[in-house]
Amino acid sequence: MAEGAFPEPSRRGFLNWFLGTAAGAFVLSVLYPVSRYLVPPEVTESTAGTVTLAIKPEEVKPNSGQIFKFGSRPGILVRTSQGELRAFTAVCTHLNCTVQYRPDLQHIWCACHNGHFDLNGRNIEGPPPRPLDAFVVNARGNQIIVSKGA
Ligand code: FES
Repeated sequence: MAEGAFPEPSRRGFLNWFLGTAAGAFVLSVLYPVSRYLVPPEVTESTAGTVTLAIKPEEVKPNSGQIFKFGSRPGILVRTSQGELRAFTAVCTHLNCTVQYRPDLQHIWCACHNGHFDLNGRNIEGPPPRPLDAFVVNARGNQIIVSKGA
């Protein structure tokens, strides 16, 4: 074989390749988490139509709220100060954060961007563009049954 048929690997070539690869890996390691943050995850719709909660009605005190699982998504059960039970999807309509009940405000609040919902699920303040989906709540004996509306 003739000498010079294959170029000898040079130190400079190796360094260029190595630095180019490392820089590319670094850029990808920065861009991937940023893109995951900016593009909210796809939340699949729950297929469950009705759930029986593990919470008993008397365990939900007036002016309090609890998160429960409705299929693959969280729901929020609220007992108003007047004693009425209400339930909504707990997925904020802004960027899908899980909302919570604020006893001091007596309404539902999203900590991510300070979104507020009243006890009918209506978006009343902050960036959420739509109301929370409401569920139908039935308390029967020791059970709370939550179902999607008709
Ligand atoms: S995700 Fe709820 S206010 Fe932004």
